[in-house]
Amino acid sequence: MTAEQKTNVALFLDMAGDYLRDGYKRPSRKYSFSGDQVSPICSDAVLTEPPVPASGETGGSALEGPGVEDSLEAVAAEVRGCTACPLCATRTMAVPGEGVSRPLVLVVGEGPGADEDASGRPFVGKAGQLLDKMLAAIGLSREQNCFIANVVKCRPPGNRDPLPEEIAPCAAFLNRQIRLLGPTVILCTGKVATQALLKTDEGIGKLRGRFIDYGGIPLLPTYHPSGILHNESLKRPVWEDLKLLRTTLMDRDETYIN
Ligand code: URA
Repeated sequence: MTAEQKTNVALFLDMAGDYLRDGYKRPSRKYSFSGDQVSPICSDAVLTEPPVPASGETGGSALEGPGVEDSLEAVAAEVRGCTACPLCATRTMAVPGEGVSRPLVLVVGEGPGADEDASGRPFVGKAGQLLDKMLAAIGLSREQNCFIANVVKCRPPGNRDPLPEEIAPCAAFLNRQIRLLGPTVILCTGKVATQALLKTDEGIGKLRGRFIDYGGIPLLPTYHPSGILHNESLKRPVWEDLKLLRTTLMDRDETYIN
């Protein structure tokens, strides 16, 4: 079989898989061929070294990095059983994330709050309802074309910011999710998530409003929806960011209809 024929078979199987999984079609991943090996070109560059747990406890295979047979279900199961940081002792439910398996947009938040801890689902409280409205304004939703996840998967007590030693062991989970999902873009909400992903101390006011390359995936930092709930003046810049997200999706993904 020629490389072109292999590409066509791979693209067809990819699309059929998408359709069977969630009835949703979008352009397939790009594939590269070397000899008889075919591999999706995805954002391996964003995959950092698996963090070493501070306590010496491994917390499961998330800390071993993504494997060939990895799946979103496997990540979710490991998140639910994770004991790699002290947040496991105070959580009610871990919150792996939810959405479609081949999203246009991966939304990344900081970590579960009280409502998310109680339900095991991301962004379901007041901030989550606002996030859903923001996404809907540009034709996006977790049911149709987004995946919603957090930097830490368990609630920090009292909704405090997650500590570096809580973010570090959780990073492998998000990295595996990014690799498996292959989003067209990442929408990173708030200072904590943005600083954690980009490994910077720069403020969100400086970082927001433009795409930043994240290992080959365009990442757009914006304010966190809970920030808007506390400060109405953030609505306008967030709307500017959403418009930028919309035009970028129109350019990059032919299945995006808005
Ligand atoms: N805030 C977040 O950052 N994530 C959630 O899941 C809920 C609120």
